[in-house]
Amino acid sequence: MMTAARKIIEVVPSLLAADLGRLDSELERVRAAGVTWVSVDVMDGHFVPNLSFGPDFVRLVKSKGLTVDSHLMVANPETVAPWFVDAGADYVTVHDEACRDARAALRDIRRRGGKAGLAVKPKTPADSLVALVGEYDLALVMTVEPGFGGAQYLSYVEPKIAAVRRAIDAAGADCWLQVDGGINEKTAAAAAGAGADSLVAGSAVFRAKDPEAAVTAIRQAALGVRR
Ligand code: DX5
Repeated sequence: MMTAARKIIEVVPSLLAADLGRLDSELERVRAAGVTWVSVDVMDGHFVPNLSFGPDFVRLVKSKGLTVDSHLMVANPETVAPWFVDAGADYVTVHDEACRDARAALRDIRRRGGKAGLAVKPKTPADSLVALVGEYDLALVMTVEPGFGGAQYLSYVEPKIAAVRRAIDAAGADCWLQVDGGINEKTAAAAAGAGADSLVAGSAVFRAKDPEAAVTAIRQAALGVRR
C-alpha cells in the first residue's frame, strides 16, 4: 500500500549546540518557532572522538514535553539502545557501521516500544538503508563526519539521500528521512530537494542571534524546494 510522501518538513534542533546552562530558555526559543522534536547526540568516545550525553539527559529533555530522538554514535549500539528506550526516547537511532546485525538491532528497539532509526556516515553506502526499508521508522543520512557540531555540509552525500528517498517511496514506507550535519538555510534547501523531510540543525539554530527566526528560515527554505 503506497503512503503519500511526507508533506511536512521537521526542523529538529540538535541540543549538542545548545547552551545547556540555559536549557529551558533555549527550548522555549525553538518551541516559539514550532519545534516539537529535538535531537540528542550520544557519543561514547569510541565510535566518535567525543563524549556527550547519557540516558538521564534524555529523561530530562523528555520531562520538558518534547519528542526526542537519540542518535547513538556508540560502538556497542545493541547494548546501549535499550537504555535510551527505557529513558523514554521516542526514536533511538543506531549506526549501521556499529551494528553486528542492524535488522536485529532495529527489531529489538521496536520490540521494547521505541521507534527505530538507522544511520549511515557520509562515506557509508546506502545499501542497508535500502535493504531494510520497513524495518525502521527513521533513516538518518549524515552529511558530516559524526562527532562534533559546526562542521561543513558534505554535498556529495545528496545522491545517497535521493536513493534512500526513492527506496522509501517505492516501498510506501511510513518513515522519516532525516539529514544531520551542517544544515542551515542554504543546505536545508539542497537536502530537502534530495528528499529529506527531517532536518537536524545544531549550530545554525543555537549559534544564531535569533534561534526562532533561524528555525523558521530553515523550514521555509526546505519547503520552498518540495518536489
Ligand atoms: C555530529 C552531530 C551534529 C549535530 C548537528 O556528530 O550529529 O551533526 O547533530 O550539528 P551542526 O548542525 O552544528 O552541524
